[in-house]
Amino acid sequence: AEEPGPVRPLYHFTAERNFINDPNGLVVADGEYHLFYQHNPEGDRWGHMSWGHAVSRDLVRWQHLPIALRESGGIMAFSGSAVLDSTNTSGFGRGAMPPMVAIFTGDGLGKQTQNLAYSTDRGRTWTMYAKNPVLDIGSKEFRDPKVFYHHGTGRWIMATVLADQHKVRLWGSKDLKSWEKLSDFGPAGATGGVWECPELFSARVERATRMWQWVLKVDVNPGAPNGGSGGQYFVGEFDGKEFRPERKPDAPPLWIDGGKDFYAAQAWNDAPGEDPTWIGWMNNWQYANDIPTSPWRGAMTAPRRVRLRRTRDGHRLVQLPAESLRSLRGREMKLGPRPIPPGDIPLGGEGVEGTALEVAAAFRPGDCATVGLKVRTGEGEETVIGFDRKSGELFVDRTRSGKVAFSRDFPGRHAAKLPAGAADDVLFVYALIDATSVEVFADGGAVAMTDQIFPRPDSRGVSLFATGGTARLESLSAWPLRP
Ligand code: FRU
Repeated sequence: AEEPGPVRPLYHFTAERNFINDPNGLVVADGEYHLFYQHNPEGDRWGHMSWGHAVSRDLVRWQHLPIALRESGGIMAFSGSAVLDSTNTSGFGRGAMPPMVAIFTGDGLGKQTQNLAYSTDRGRTWTMYAKNPVLDIGSKEFRDPKVFYHHGTGRWIMATVLADQHKVRLWGSKDLKSWEKLSDFGPAGATGGVWECPELFSARVERATRMWQWVLKVDVNPGAPNGGSGGQYFVGEFDGKEFRPERKPDAPPLWIDGGKDFYAAQAWNDAPGEDPTWIGWMNNWQYANDIPTSPWRGAMTAPRRVRLRRTRDGHRLVQLPAESLRSLRGREMKLGPRPIPPGDIPLGGEGVEGTALEVAAAFRPGDCATVGLKVRTGEGEETVIGFDRKSGELFVDRTRSGKVAFSRDFPGRHAAKLPAGAADDVLFVYALIDATSVEVFADGGAVAMTDQIFPRPDSRGVSLFATGGTARLESLSAWPLRP
């Protein structure tokens, strides 16, 4: 029998069993969102890396499919991307069926190379390209190809990392098979550990009409502000050849997420709508092999829509969960305005509780020191989501979130600075709570914080709290989310 205890996430993606890490091969084709992912088919720790596979029509309800790419001949299938080659530039198509092409890192025989595989049956079965690899620079630290079609120059672009040199190297191709070097970006920003999983896309500027900027994301491991793995981004221009950041290369890094568990994000190619949507691996290499779940290990974050906000210091990322999550909502529980004196106010009596919840609250901090929500509360357990008025920070404290002792790097309090003025009037906080995670968004997505938690299944309470003075709740809505 399985140990009672953290139950499986209700609305976050997990594999049926065994270890997963990065999302891979995100592409939309025939109305299906494909999610491939780093997977060990044989065990619940990292190893034998292969591409697991699932599809969804709404980013919420996933259907598991057989493993797409397997480790073979001592070469593992590391991270990469997929494209729909609709005009058959690669020649892998069959009749009128355009090929789906996966571009992935082969890791083995002492090096990392970029390789192709293709499918002409909607990603169900895959054939390795006979002339692999398509890129080999004789390096052990050359990986994570993200390929997309650049309409301006009419060719495929591939972003890769030279991981230990803290460089993103861009390549161009007409047929996905032969690649020419375009440019290098970096070192810049955070250069701790290695650089991994580059991503390059254009995103819309909030409130501006038809204004777009390019975003180059690259992850660092270790070297993130809360320890271990994390993602940074640069905003700038991309002309089809070179990425030029709007800030100086020695400007302080910009982080995607203020928590500890958002890594290796990738955006869907060919997604409908104007805004890119990405999904991250909800984990951190410090403890990814040790989190207390079974028989699965690892989950994806909620998919997030990405935009930019123009500020005096340049553009900043704003992220909000994909709209389609709303289709899981049960009946809304709504609370009206009330003071929050120092202490905790449990909301169970008013029907606000649950394992899987969406909560939207508006707080007026008044003269408090901290104000916010406690979620997944129970005997001796709580996860605190708060605003610290003096520091102007949003924080998540998971030191009492159930099982925390499996790694000394797990328990902790994480904080992220809010934009100036975000809490001058009311502060909007929005949280997605699930069996093993909280994702918190504030100020319209200017701050995002993602943290895993492992409370007991019966820790389902929600409270309001304040310290050091009286704050005020303006309104709160909570929705139970269906599995
Ligand atoms: C990032 C990463 C990638 C690599 C993959 C291996 O988490 O280290 O750089 O391709 O995981 O599983």
